[in-house]
Amino acid sequence: MDTLSVRIEPSFDSWRIEARKLLEGSVPPDAVLWTDSSSTQFDLFDSGEPPRKKQEVKISKSYLDLARTVSCHSSPERWGLMYRAAWRMVCNGEKNLLQRPTDSDTRKLLEMAKAIRRDCHKMNAFVRFRKVGEYPHTGREQFVAWFEPSHHIIEYNASFFIKRFTGMDWSILSPEKCIHWDGVKLHTSEGVSKSSAPDEDDLEELWRGYYKSIFNPARLKLKAMQAEMPKKYWKNLPEAELIDELTRHSSNRRDDMIKAESLEPRPAPRNLYLQNLHKNNQDFVVNEPGTIHDKSLDELAELAACCRACPLWEKATQTVFGTGNPEARIMLVGEQPGDEEDIQGKPFVGPAGRLLDEALADAGLDREEMYITNAVKHFKWKPGSANRKRRIHDKANRGEIEACKPWLVAEVMKVQPSVIVTLGNTAAQSLIRKDFRILSERGEVNMGNLIGFPGKIIATIHPSWLLRIRDEAEQQAEFKKFTADLKLCRE
Ligand code: URA
Repeated sequence: MDTLSVRIEPSFDSWRIEARKLLEGSVPPDAVLWTDSSSTQFDLFDSGEPPRKKQEVKISKSYLDLARTVSCHSSPERWGLMYRAAWRMVCNGEKNLLQRPTDSDTRKLLEMAKAIRRDCHKMNAFVRFRKVGEYPHTGREQFVAWFEPSHHIIEYNASFFIKRFTGMDWSILSPEKCIHWDGVKLHTSEGVSKSSAPDEDDLEELWRGYYKSIFNPARLKLKAMQAEMPKKYWKNLPEAELIDELTRHSSNRRDDMIKAESLEPRPAPRNLYLQNLHKNNQDFVVNEPGTIHDKSLDELAELAACCRACPLWEKATQTVFGTGNPEARIMLVGEQPGDEEDIQGKPFVGPAGRLLDEALADAGLDREEMYITNAVKHFKWKPGSANRKRRIHDKANRGEIEACKPWLVAEVMKVQPSVIVTLGNTAAQSLIRKDFRILSERGEVNMGNLIGFPGKIIATIHPSWLLRIRDEAEQQAEFKKFTADLKLCRE
């Protein structure tokens, strides 16, 4: 087979134009060699015209959005991977490719997109603007920041800064590309070296003061801190200089805080309602007037956003409350949000969620009609052992499950589903019985009137357990059993 060399600018738009021509010619992915102007192979090949008759090209918006994200990845393989997936969907009849997280192309695309989201998250958290001047006529201040991303995200991620700092002029400088906002339009220019970014200014003191005031020595966990704020970024952060000093004195400050606390009368809890809720689950279960039952699901979600009933909120980005149809007949209950759910604030949007979608589709169920939530509403994680930047899922313990249970019960009471499907041991142990074992007791569970819920409970495995099965045949067989459990809901 002849190889067609396709040269593009390293941008999504450039890839998209070429990919469309190739798809119209039904050119198979193995016949294409993608090179971009940042690649060393750039000048070695001639681009050719794709031959053959025209194929109609319809690419879903969700794939284009995913491909736009993946195009920012630093791997030179991304262009070929993006094309192969598009070709499989458009020319090879695999329309549902993206709903199959077990497929190796889908998995790679999703992993790359996840790496991009994490890089953007770091940029949003660690960019620090420094004031460099002021326009004499308009009085508008100018700010500059330096950031070194791991991927090509500077322009892709600009919208976050435009929204947040619309009213000021700013530039974000980086080695590959710089972006500049003038209050109206985003401009780009070539990358620069770190020495172009200013180091010191008045704002530094402000940042340091702020950081010192929010620094809580009792919560000092250096390792976790380094995992979230990798040393690579410390040099851009004025407050990082304080870390050594503050941590050296943290035991004194902690003792001072403990002493001060025992002398002063304790302030009333900011949110009495929540405190009561978590001290006494029974109040809440028996549906007394004035308890949480007067609240709507949206109000419950708002309250849960400031829940401090267990320590998991400290390391999580946000509370991930249930979502979906408030009048659903079927409610799915998972374990706890994972890394992606923690960032997006919605349950089951990561790899396990995608596998769940595939299983629901196979079982003839529509996710949109359901209410989906978790037994525990905060992501519990520990840093990876090989790669400490990775946040690895850590199982919630009994106390954490119990602390979160009032929220789950409130959701059940509000939605009043006919069927609850518990996914995995944690959900089943929260709602059914503390020592429930899914592998020996799965299926329909007769509960009587559990927590005032008269409907049916179906206990099944968790989709992330399926993702961990290495043997493909075994995985397929377990996947079928899972969809069979889900089909019980329809009956
Ligand atoms: N696993 C869960 O149990 N819940 C989620 O929301 C995501 C992964």
